[in-house]
Amino acid sequence: MSKKIIIANWKMNPVSKKEAEKLFVSINKSISNVKNTEVIICPPVIYLNKLKAISYKLKAKLGAQNFFYEESGAYTGEISANMVYELGARYVILGHSERRIMGENSDDVNKKIKASLRESIIPIVCIGEKERDENHNYLSFIREQLEVGFKNISKDVLSKIIIAYEPVWAIGKNATREATPEEFLEMKIFIKKVLSMTFGVKCKIPRVIYGGSVNEKNVVDFIEKGEADGFLIGRASLDVKKFSKIVNMVENIY
Ligand code: PGA
Repeated sequence: MSKKIIIANWKMNPVSKKEAEKLFVSINKSISNVKNTEVIICPPVIYLNKLKAISYKLKAKLGAQNFFYEESGAYTGEISANMVYELGARYVILGHSERRIMGENSDDVNKKIKASLRESIIPIVCIGEKERDENHNYLSFIREQLEVGFKNISKDVLSKIIIAYEPVWAIGKNATREATPEEFLEMKIFIKKVLSMTFGVKCKIPRVIYGGSVNEKNVVDFIEKGEADGFLIGRASLDVKKFSKIVNMVENIY
């Protein structure tokens, strides 16, 4: 059985390098016994270098929350895949809904997936509908995100990619509710179906993780009933107690 993967999305937190270091060290201490679970911390890019320097021999690996797909050039304010690699990131969150709301589309995500694979960075590709409707139109929305996002990606690298299903209505402090494990499983099956239609029935499907109000009360059900391969965690990843409880619970499901 492949390892479960837990990704901490710190977003634009914490506010200082000192706090970031403290949080990173405390999390690592609290998960030092973990063997069956991969833990990835995605801090603001400005903290990566410092955390890379202390991450030697620590459990958690580092990821970025974004980058731009070009290798270099006149792109004011942007940072490339290679630049975040140099800072220690081996994973990257792509197409998060908080970026899509600022104008990023699935074409951009497609270019970023290709750039990350080129630089040996594992892409964590976020997909998710803004709302659910009785006619199931949200499924076409997800299909489009997948078809455009994965366009012209070689099927040989598919299994390296991680897909994070994060329904937008379940994310952050304005969430209406979290998804149910049954809704997640239905979506995981749908994702598999769409990708096998594009890449062939024998293709190796990426791991599919859940994100959106993940907490210590819902993780076990998402794995046992929803067959989640792991989680992308926002708020709870900034709380050492909550986050380590989640990681240790997932670790002990085996
Ligand atoms: P949340 O955020 O866990 O705070 O809902 C998840 C995310 O945005 O990745």
